[in-house]
Amino acid sequence: MPEQPPVNPTIRTIAMPADTNPAGDIFGGWLMSQMDLAAGSIAALTARGRSATIAVEGMKFHRPVKVGDEVSLYADLIHVGRTSMRIHVEAWRRERDSDDTQQVTEATFTFVAINEDGSARAVRGD
Ligand SMILES: CC(C)(COP(=O)(O)OP(=O)(O)OC[C@H]1O[C@@H](n2cnc3c(N)ncnc32)[C@H](O)[C@@H]1OP(=O)(O)O)[C@@H](O)C(=O)NCCC(=O)NCCS
Repeated sequence: MPEQPPVNPTIRTIAMPADTNPAGDIFGGWLMSQMDLAAGSIAALTARGRSATIAVEGMKFHRPVKVGDEVSLYADLIHVGRTSMRIHVEAWRRERDSDDTQQVTEATFTFVAINEDGSARAVRGD
């Protein structure tokens, strides 16, 4: 795993008490939704319109996220198919009062560009 995150995050947010699981740790589903949002932002820009998540591969939780952590999501377009886009996403945490950052998750999301009726369409519009 890299020791430093990429330069510019796609999304940056703060893990709040409402995002915890019953044990009081940050809920993995919350983190996955932030990753989906970051990938979706890249998909919308790439497809110039609506898209939907069709698959998530290689989801890994490397370390826990704590309440109050600043969480940065880095989404990187790695492949464009006819209707699909593969986007690699990493999440990194930083304690509020520290410069230290740690990678906490990674996964590859596949989005499909869709029409208004929800059917697949070509990403490049051809
Ligand atoms: C997105 C959707 C419209 C696509 O339906 P479809 O046209 O029958 O899908 P296809 O099987 O033709 O696949 C479309 C693309 O996705 C790719 N794909 C399909 N299943 C995949 C999988 N499991 N992993 C990776 N890519 C996949 C195909 O290779 C194809 O890519 P390409 O056009 O670039 O070659 C449909 O699957 C759907 O509505 N899914 C639900 C989406 C959703 O609600 N997401 C939010 C979940 S809460």
